[in-house]
This record gives sequence, structure tokens and C-alpha cells, in this order.
Amino acid sequence: MIAGILLAACIMTFAQIPEADTSRIKSSYYEVNDFVEENENCLKCHGEVKYALEDTLFGRVLTQYMCPADILDRDAFYTGVHRAFSCTDCHSYDYETFPHPLEARLEEMYTCLDCHGYDENFAHYNFEVIQEEFEASIHNIDEFSCWKCHDPHSYRAFIRNSQDIEEAVRYDNNMCLNCHSNFDRFMLLTDREEINLVESHDWLPNQVSHFSSVRCIECHTEINDTILVAHKILPREEAVKKCTECHSRNSRLMQTLYKFEVKEGRKGGFVNGVILNDAYVIGANQNDFLNWISLLVFGLTLVVILFHTVLRIRNNKN
Ligand code: HEC
Ligand code: HEC
Ligand code: HEC
Ligand code: HEC
Ligand code: HEC
Ligand code: HEC
Ligand code: HEC
Repeated sequence: MIAGILLAACIMTFAQIPEADTSRIKSSYYEVNDFVEENENCLKCHGEVKYALEDTLFGRVLTQYMCPADILDRDAFYTGVHRAFSCTDCHSYDYETFPHPLEARLEEMYTCLDCHGYDENFAHYNFEVIQEEFEASIHNIDEFSCWKCHDPHSYRAFIRNSQDIEEAVRYDNNMCLNCHSNFDRFMLLTDREEINLVESHDWLPNQVSHFSSVRCIECHTEINDTILVAHKILPREEAVKKCTECHSRNSRLMQTLYKFEVKEGRKGGFVNGVILNDAYVIGANQNDFLNWISLLVFGLTLVVILFHTVLRIRNNKN
């Protein structure tokens, strides 16, 4: 009993977590965040693939493996929308002790609306409408939340600030593929069997090309004019399957993917370049190269007709 108490006291006194290694801090972090050093108290473990426990009495160091799902990327954190935060703005102070107590884990996390709802600074995002759409979407199941797509430690408001649609498509699709191409994450939320995306889209030709030029949400959500990014993910039966929904002059992409560009009058050449200018969207727009070819063909035809006429006239005379 006494030995037990003594042992516990020794562990309390001599077992330590080594100081943070400040060389991991970049000066750019200080420009966006006032809690950089405080955050290192968490990131010395959560920013590394391994962390250390130290016995200060005997000078022994034990290196432990950090669970990959619990590792954060510092650069991503300090460029995300919540880059100015300290870890304990969102997480309980109970996490300052290690091992972390059970109560800390079971604590309710803030929702987006707790901070952004009915706030005029963020009114242009329409968080309230997004919340409604999420509640009506197929993902509204136990334990699913906005955070599952919006990684709390890296999310950026990407497409509204992007000039490069292809990059934005990749960013947005990776948000879905995080679960839909990673069964470990998917199965945490459901007992459903793994969905094979390649098989369930085998009706779509050029999958690679489509998945890199349109977002999953183009086909899987209902169009909504009040928000930039539609959030109501529909059941699979209601997904867009008709080619002409996109491959036509009044393509739904104008109300989804290209909406922001269209609204802002930002062209970047993309709208004309990809959707309208493509040869298979017949009559949607003009293509210089094709125009020249058809002119050439037309010219050649004229020459041939002229030649024939001349020959005929000559033959007739003979
Ligand atoms: C000594 C290293 C260490 C430090 C320092 C540390 N953690 Fe952890 N943390 C861990 C380990 C290891 C795990 C995973 C094992 C576990 O859940 O206990 C973890 C798990 C977590 C989890 C996930 C719990 C869950 O239920 O999945 C959160 C959240 C967390 N830590 C936040 C923090 C915050 C915030 C700080 C700083 C205030 C912090 N940690 C400091 C090592 C550390
Ligand atoms: C804007 C709020 C916010 C901030 C700031 C924040 N977290 Fe989190 N964190 C969350 C939420 C919400 C979750 C739960 C995510 C989920 O449910 O998928 C989480 C989950 C975690 C987890 C569990 C693994 C995971 O990613 O799901 C760890 C570890 C963690 N946070 C550590 C940290 C550390 C370290 C910091 C500071 C560098 C930090 N967090 C800053 C909101 C935040
Ligand atoms: C704890 C409060 C809190 C929570 C929870 C929270 N945010 Fe924020 N968020 C903020 C604050 C404060 C800012 C402004 C930060 C700044 O200006 O540096 C912000 C900034 C943003 C921005 C950038 C706004 C702009 O115009 O620059 C977006 C987008 C955003 N949050 C989305 C979300 C989403 C999505 C969620 C939920 C997944 C969420 N936030 C959860 C407090 C929060
Ligand atoms: C199924 C995944 C998913 C879920 C769940 C989700 N979002 Fe999103 N959200 C996205 C995607 C994809 C984008 C586009 C990201 C980008 O490129 O800016 C986005 C963008 C946003 C934006 C920025 C829109 C803009 O105008 O720039 C806000 C704000 C937002 N979501 C809030 C929320 C809130 C609040 C919830 C929960 C009620 C939520 N999201 C749940 C996938 C999701
Ligand atoms: C955090 C993990 C996660 C993310 C991120 C995620 N999903 Fe899902 N998705 C699920 C789970 C789990 C289910 C199964 C829900 C159930 O049990 O019915 C599902 C189901 C679906 C279904 C099938 C619906 C049906 O009728 O069977 C579609 C379509 C879908 N998701 C699209 C998307 C799109 C698009 C995105 C990105 C905007 C996305 N998901 C992001 C986890 C995720
Ligand atoms: C061109 C439109 C289109 C695009 C882009 C698209 N999907 Fe689908 N998706 C569909 C259609 C249509 C179905 C239903 C197919 C069926 O029932 O035969 C479907 C089915 C699904 C299912 C349900 C499969 C099942 O077997 O239950 C999931 C999950 C899904 N898609 C996720 C995604 C994700 C993630 C992306 C982005 C990487 C994506 N989809 C891109 C049209 C699309
Ligand atoms: C959600 C909108 C959308 C739907 C639905 C859609 N497409 Fe596409 N498709 C695109 C876009 C955008 C491109 C442009 C890709 C590029 O040229 O980079 C494209 C490209 C193509 C290409 C050229 C591929 C390449 O590699 O250049 C073909 C062929 C095609 N689509 C056929 C189809 C067929 C057939 C269907 C119906 C089964 C279909 N598409 C449905 C948006 C869509």
C-alpha cells in the first residue's frame, strides 16, 4: 500500500513529457496566430509520428507511436480558416493532461452554427441554409457532422478563393474521397458494406477525366441558388445520370461548378475553354481551329466545283 503510494508519487514526479522542439515552428505561424507556442504543447505529440515519455530520475526516454488519425499537419493548420485558434479554443483543457481523461473525449464538440449561426460577419456564407441542407441529406446519420467533411485542422474556403477550377475540383472531391475511398473512415459511421466507386460509376465513360473536371457534388446534390456550394446530398437514385444535364448549352454546371465564375464575371477561360468550346457540345460556341478547317474545306469544295465547271464548259464547246 505505502509502496504503491510511493511508486505513484515517483511516477508523478519523475515521469515527464519532454519540452516541445521549437525548431518545428515557422515564422509564418506567428503572423496568423497568437498561441503558437502554447499549441506546440499539443503539437509536440500531435504534430509528430512519434512522441516521447521521459523518466527524469533515471534519464530513460521511451518513444511511442502516434496513431496516424491523430496527427495534424502544422502548415495545413496555420493556413486553414481557423488558423488563428489555440487548440483549447475548441478542445477541453482536460487535454492538457496525459493520458487524456475519458471525460475529455466524450465532451460535445462545438458545431459550426454555435459560432457562425446568425452572425452578420458570416451572413454571405448562409450557414443556416447549409445546416438545413445537411439535415436533409443522406449523411444525416448518428455521429456524422459538418466536421467530417470540413477537417477542423485544415479546412479552407477553397473554391470561392480559387482561380484554378481543376485544383478546386480536386480539393472538393478529396473531401468526399476521404471516406469514399477509405473504408477505415467510412465504417466508423455505418454498418454498410464498402461501396466501390469505380463499379458504381461504370456507366460513366472516361471516369478519370470526369472526376478531375467535375465535383462529386455536381451530380449528387440538388441545385440551390442561395448558397455557393450545395449541401443536400441526395440518395443514389436521384443522382444525375443524364449526359445532357451537363453536355448541353444550358448545362447544370452553370448553376453549380461555374456558378461563382459566372456570378463574379470571372472567366479565366475555363467556362469557354472546357464546357462550351469542346467539339462535342455541338453549336454551343465557336472553335477557331474547327472554323478554319471548315473554311478550308469550303474553299477546297469551291475550287473543285469551279474546276469541274470549267472542264464541262470546255467539253461542251468541243
Ligand atoms: C504526450 C503526448 C500528447 C500530448 C502532449 C497531447 N496529446 Fe492528445 N493524444 C495523445 C495520444 C497518444 C492520443 C491517442 C491515444 C489516446 O486517445 O489517448 C491522443 C488523443 C487525443 C485526442 C483524440 C481523442 C479521441 O477520442 O480520439 C484529442 C482530441 C487530443 N489528443 C487533443 C490534445 C490536445 C488539445 C492537446 C494539447 C492541449 C493534446 N492532445 C496533447 C498524446 C498527446
Ligand atoms: C476549430 C476548432 C478546433 C481547433 C482550433 C482544433 N480542433 Fe482538434 N478537433 C476539433 C473537432 C471538431 C474534432 C472532432 C472531429 C470529428 O468529429 O471528426 C477534433 C479532433 C481532434 C483530434 C482527433 C483526431 C481527429 O482529427 O479527428 C485531435 C488529435 C485533435 N483534434 C487535436 C487538435 C490539436 C492538437 C489542435 C491545435 C493545434 C486542435 N485539435 C485544434 C476541433 C478543433
Ligand atoms: C469555436 C468557434 C467556431 C467554430 C466551432 C467554427 N468556426 Fe469557423 N470561424 C470562427 C472564427 C472566429 C472565424 C474567423 C477567424 C479569423 O478571422 O481569423 C472563423 C472563420 C471561418 C471561415 C472563414 C470566414 C472568412 O470569410 O474568412 C469559414 C469558411 C469557417 N469559419 C467555416 C466553419 C465551418 C464550416 C465550421 C464547422 C465545420 C466552423 N467554421 C466552425 C469560429 C468558429
Ligand atoms: C458531405 C460533405 C460535407 C458536409 C457534411 C458539409 N460540407 Fe460544407 N462543404 C463541402 C464542400 C465539398 C464544400 C466546398 C469546399 C470549397 O471548395 O470551398 C463545402 C463548403 C462549405 C462552406 C463554404 C461555402 C462558401 O460559400 O464558400 C461552408 C460555410 C460550409 N461548407 C458549411 C458547412 C456546414 C455548416 C455544414 C454542416 C451543417 C457542412 N458544411 C457540412 C462539403 C460538406
Ligand atoms: C466522413 C465520411 C464521409 C464523407 C466525408 C462523405 N461521405 Fe458519403 N457516405 C458516408 C457514409 C457512412 C455513407 C452511408 C450512409 C448510410 O449508412 O446510409 C455515405 C453514403 C453516401 C452516398 C450513398 C447514398 C445512398 O443512397 O446510398 C452518396 C451518394 C455519398 N455518400 C456521397 C458523398 C459525397 C458527394 C461526399 C462529398 C461531398 C461524401 N459522400 C462525403 C460517409 C462519408
Ligand atoms: C456524372 C455524375 C456523377 C459524378 C461526377 C459522381 N457521381 Fe456518384 N453516382 C452517380 C450516379 C448516377 C449514381 C447512381 C448509380 C446507380 O444507381 O447506378 C452514383 C452513385 C454513387 C454512390 C452510391 C453507390 C452505391 O453503390 O450505393 C456513391 C457513394 C457515390 N456515387 C459517390 C460519389 C463520389 C464520392 C464522387 C466523386 C468522386 C461521385 N460519386 C461522382 C453520379 C455521379
Ligand atoms: C456533371 C456533369 C457531367 C455529366 C453528367 C457528364 N459529363 Fe461528360 N464531361 C463533363 C465535363 C466538364 C467534361 C470536360 C472534361 C475535359 O475536357 O477536361 C466532360 C468530358 C466528357 C468527355 C470527353 C472526355 C475526355 O477525356 O476528353 C466525354 C466523351 C464525355 N464527357 C461523355 C459523357 C457521357 C457519355 C456522359 C453520360 C453518360 C457524360 N459525359 C456525363 C461533364 C459531365
